[in-house]
Amino acid sequence: MELYNLKHPSQKVSFTEAVKLGLGRDRGLFFPTLIPVLDNVDELLAMPFVERSKHIMGAWLAQELGQERVDELVENAFNFELPLVKADDNRYCLELFHGPTLAFKDFGARFMAQCLNALASEDKITILTATSGDTGAAVADAFYGLDKIQVVVLYPKGKISLLQEKMFTTLGRNIHTVSVESDFDACQDLVKAAFEDRDVREDLHLNSANSINISRLLAQICYYFEAVAQFKLTNDCDPVIAVPSGNFGNLTAGLFARAMGLPIKRFVAATNSNDTVPRYLALGDWLPHQTVATMSNAMDVSEPSNWPRVEAIVEAMGWSLADITGIGLSESDTQDSLAQLYHAGYLSEPHAAIAAKALSLTMEDKEAGIFLGTAHPAKFKDVVEQALDIKVALPPELEAVKDKPILSASMDANFADLKAHLFAIL
Ligand SMILES: Cc1ncc(COP(=O)(O)O)c(C=O)c1O
Repeated sequence: MELYNLKHPSQKVSFTEAVKLGLGRDRGLFFPTLIPVLDNVDELLAMPFVERSKHIMGAWLAQELGQERVDELVENAFNFELPLVKADDNRYCLELFHGPTLAFKDFGARFMAQCLNALASEDKITILTATSGDTGAAVADAFYGLDKIQVVVLYPKGKISLLQEKMFTTLGRNIHTVSVESDFDACQDLVKAAFEDRDVREDLHLNSANSINISRLLAQICYYFEAVAQFKLTNDCDPVIAVPSGNFGNLTAGLFARAMGLPIKRFVAATNSNDTVPRYLALGDWLPHQTVATMSNAMDVSEPSNWPRVEAIVEAMGWSLADITGIGLSESDTQDSLAQLYHAGYLSEPHAAIAAKALSLTMEDKEAGIFLGTAHPAKFKDVVEQALDIKVALPPELEAVKDKPILSASMDANFADLKAHLFAIL
């Protein structure tokens, strides 16, 4: 698989190089030179998830890695369920939160850990990543105990839920966590600055596990196929898919799936009031505001780093950005949606609730749609309990960490401090 740097198209790399580098020159994102188109989609949709995913990943990677290795990566990474659950008459939720850290990030993080483990030859690798909530846990879990790989996770202090925080800050060993006195965008900027710094990048063999890493995005393509496969069992039409969006990795993967030939009618990009993309789609101006804190905190991103990839896919396929409906919703919309789903018999959480509402706002007669369930409701227990006036039970994964001490270091959003800290702990 060949990829090029969207900022410097002459920089071309293999998949293995792109996984190891994360970002290209000048922080450019890697993008595939060619998107494989599948001519046997119906046949694939009839297969079980893991078998189908081997074919999908094989279409991208078999030439470089060999199909046998691809099969192994898929089998090791995808070992949990992803049911499509009917939420009401014409809306379904693809529940992506049945992995070890109860969020959709498990798909990408586990696949990336498998890739790095299999492909990296260096003695030492440092994964440096920023999280707005769930990436931290998924990456920490996927890499925990791999002693050749050190993981450093930055997160905005006080801006993720306590249970989210407990899932990755209590592990120790090769997992180091830093709470930053700022917002997610600042954490993301620190990660980018670290990649720009030669000492850090080279001495620590830096790697990023954010959704800028292409291996994570490829893995996420597979669950869109599963969504459509399950949807088609009971529906004749093609689904509209609403994606709760922050950094826009999830939507990027969905667009790749559609480009490969998956029948998806259209996408709805759903955000909270950090709505740079919906405003851009409606008005044509890219005007990020200061990030504001919301109850769907993992989507509190005002400068989504995957957006250039969205535009690149649309351009490569000859589609139009007008095919993506952008909807930004308020806190009260989020609460209304949670309540409405709950009264229909479906317990959700703020991120998925935003996508569910955006879906119903844009769906026309005779359409049916899917919203992505990106996190388990118990991960947002406090918000959900308050919004619905109910008690949410903790699943065993959260019960196990809720009383453990947080092991994070704490610092301002200052790169010099971060650099000193990295050299001190690694
Ligand atoms: C629960 C949840 N929903 C949605 C998102 C947004 O996904 P993306 O950043 O790929 O747009 C995230 C990202 O962290 C998340 O954790």
